[in-house]
Amino acid sequence: MGLIIGYCCWVLVGIGSGWIWYWKMKKKMDDKNGVPKGNLGWPFIGETLDFIASGYTSRPVTFMDKRKSLYGKVFKTNILGSPIIVSTDPDVNKVVLQNHGNTFVPAYPKSIRELLGKSSILQINGNLQRRLHALLGGFLRSPQLKSRITKDIENSVKLTLSSWRHMNNLVYVQEETKKITFQILVKVLMSIGPGDDLNSLKKEFEEFIKGLICLPIKLPGTRLYKSLKAKEKMLKIVNRVVEERKLGMEMMSDHGYDNDDQKSGAANDAVDVLLREYFVESNGKQSLPLDFISGNIVEMMIPGEETVPTAMTLAVKFLSDSPVALKQLMEENMEMKKQKIESCDDYTWTDYTSLSFTQNVVSETLRMANIINAVWRKTLKDVEIKGYLIPQGWCVLTSFSSVHMDEENYENPYHFDPWRWEKIGGGAVNNNNYTPFGGGQRLCPGLDLSRLEISIFLHHLVTTYRWVAEKDDIVHFPTVKMKKKLPITVAPIRI
Ligand code: HEM
Repeated sequence: MGLIIGYCCWVLVGIGSGWIWYWKMKKKMDDKNGVPKGNLGWPFIGETLDFIASGYTSRPVTFMDKRKSLYGKVFKTNILGSPIIVSTDPDVNKVVLQNHGNTFVPAYPKSIRELLGKSSILQINGNLQRRLHALLGGFLRSPQLKSRITKDIENSVKLTLSSWRHMNNLVYVQEETKKITFQILVKVLMSIGPGDDLNSLKKEFEEFIKGLICLPIKLPGTRLYKSLKAKEKMLKIVNRVVEERKLGMEMMSDHGYDNDDQKSGAANDAVDVLLREYFVESNGKQSLPLDFISGNIVEMMIPGEETVPTAMTLAVKFLSDSPVALKQLMEENMEMKKQKIESCDDYTWTDYTSLSFTQNVVSETLRMANIINAVWRKTLKDVEIKGYLIPQGWCVLTSFSSVHMDEENYENPYHFDPWRWEKIGGGAVNNNNYTPFGGGQRLCPGLDLSRLEISIFLHHLVTTYRWVAEKDDIVHFPTVKMKKKLPITVAPIRI
């Protein structure tokens, strides 16, 4: 009995302190001039339930829209355990993303922070992040990589598509596109081709990412623990690749090739890019240690892995629902295929990116898909943007989906309309109103590669098969995917 009374007392004390903290926080915020209007909701849970409930509907931006109409484009709320300022204003988002004064740092939930590790490009700040970003971006966007990887992407796409001929049943697009993109990602990062290492990486990676959104408890048997173990196994493979490559480079130096010789040749993969820095810098100032390189190679798989197959899958979904767009896409791509058959020429990467309607389909898909619907940052000091005060220590959520689905920016925003990009401007470079790849300091270095992969996939899909999609819905929470993995039945096209 005594134990129960004691327990009840502790619970009451806990609730009491929670209320006090909540009211103090609320008062502090109400006292500060310029803090955006809004509602912090209930103690502890804030407005999380409403946020998650909107995520399960077909229009997840309803959460933002409701508050935008009450408080304006920038408002405060409390979700997932932290008070947060949500921006649906493209100008405010731009300032946060540009991060000129290095005031904003990434703020991921604890489970993600644990899995990423402290040195991940996704978590580090300042000069090191900028240097790494420039190195990776320079490589991933280089024409040399694009021209080399085009053949690999084609092979991977064709292999997967040809396997559909033998499937008598439904083809699950969400599963199939993952087969295509994982191979390419591993090739780009560390030049591993099909075989045991690729299979192990795939298996462990699937285990690893299951822990991205989970309770941050690191005890044997917990989800986080299993994911960290999977990461260790991946690191073993990557460490071996990095070590072997380092030895190879050292041998080249012993045979008279200096760093400049090695640097002047095109890098084969991200491991090459980072190792070159390791050699150059270790003689002088700062170096990129080997475990930093291996860690970042593994961690780069996180933004690179789920995103591209999701974009491919949603493109198929949107096209299945828009026969006129599909017809025009097919005509454009069929014309190129016929030319290639006649001339017996190989495709170059610019062939794919020169297909203007296809590029518009890719842009429109990325606008509506909102695969990364927002990014989370935390302020290191009080910042004022457009008259809004963001107090030190608060999180800011720059909502991309609200901007992409706002009538002010896109007429009839829920309508899949690739033709709108003819007016806006083809290749859909990132601008304030269009940020599927983020922007500023952390603009996705995989932007061009992703668009190329999607374009090659669409080309071979629409020139190889006609398909009928079963009814399926998009789920937006916790990540974007198809409820039933998008089942389709396919029939080959004869040219
Ligand atoms: C459709 C596909 C993709 C989408 C929508 C996408 C989206 C994004 C977004 C929104 C960010 C910014 C995150 C932030 O500001 O915190 C980002 C960063 C990043 N992405 Fe992508 N991404 C895609 C594909 C890829 C691929 C294929 C790779 C790798 C090959 C990649 C590698 C990265 C990396 C390393 C960063 C971190 C950059 C930094 O913090 O400096 N992404 N991506």
